[in-house]
Amino acid sequence: MPNLIDNPEEYFRQFLPKRDQLLMELEEEARREGIPIVGPIVGELLHILARATQSRRILELGTATGYSTIFLARAFEPTQGRLVTIDNDSDMAARAKINFHRAGLDQQIDMVVGDSQEKLFEMDESFDLVFLDIDKEDYAAVLPHCGRLLKKGGLLIADNVRFKNADPFNRLISESSKWRSVNLFAYLPLHSPEKDGLCLALRL
Ligand SMILES: C[S@@+](CC[C@H](N)C(=O)[O-])C[C@H]1O[C@@H](n2cnc3c(N)ncnc32)[C@H](O)[C@@H]1O
Repeated sequence: MPNLIDNPEEYFRQFLPKRDQLLMELEEEARREGIPIVGPIVGELLHILARATQSRRILELGTATGYSTIFLARAFEPTQGRLVTIDNDSDMAARAKINFHRAGLDQQIDMVVGDSQEKLFEMDESFDLVFLDIDKEDYAAVLPHCGRLLKKGGLLIADNVRFKNADPFNRLISESSKWRSVNLFAYLPLHSPEKDGLCLALRL
């Protein structure tokens, strides 16, 4: 038997990444209102992946209050980089814009209000990284656009792939010759939900 730490869920909670006041407030607000944000583990993972890939142009589908957006945009060098984030809920978008201003990131983030699929049809710019976090039944429909807009060698990160309605997306991406993908099924403290899956995929 491998010599594993007991109660890993309790044990790893002590290593949650440190967050500033703004992110902690957004977490508290999300808890109160039941807003499904990625939480500090996936937030930190997004930040690390954006920095490691030296992403200068990031596309996010599913903003909510802008929690994950802030982790991603903070990976840019000051005054460099551009992030486009899309949400179909105008109230959420308005709240996110206030949070981007509070984070000092409003110059780097374009908040687009509308349905992802419709907005992506109109776009032709190229991105280094795409983060997918909209309704899971929409994942399969936006995947071809993500493939078109992501540069070759770019990274796609899709949250919540354990949801049943992400199944068509999971099958599509794993069978496509355009992607090299892996699914991580992990315990993610403070993630919504905590026992969830995440897909990382390279655009070939
Ligand atoms: C899970 S929340 C995003 C959470 C955010 N990424 C975070 O971790 O802080 C999903 C958001 O996607 C939006 N949404 C759902 N389906 C959408 C679609 N087809 N197009 C655009 N936005 C969508 C919802 O309004 C909601 O605010």
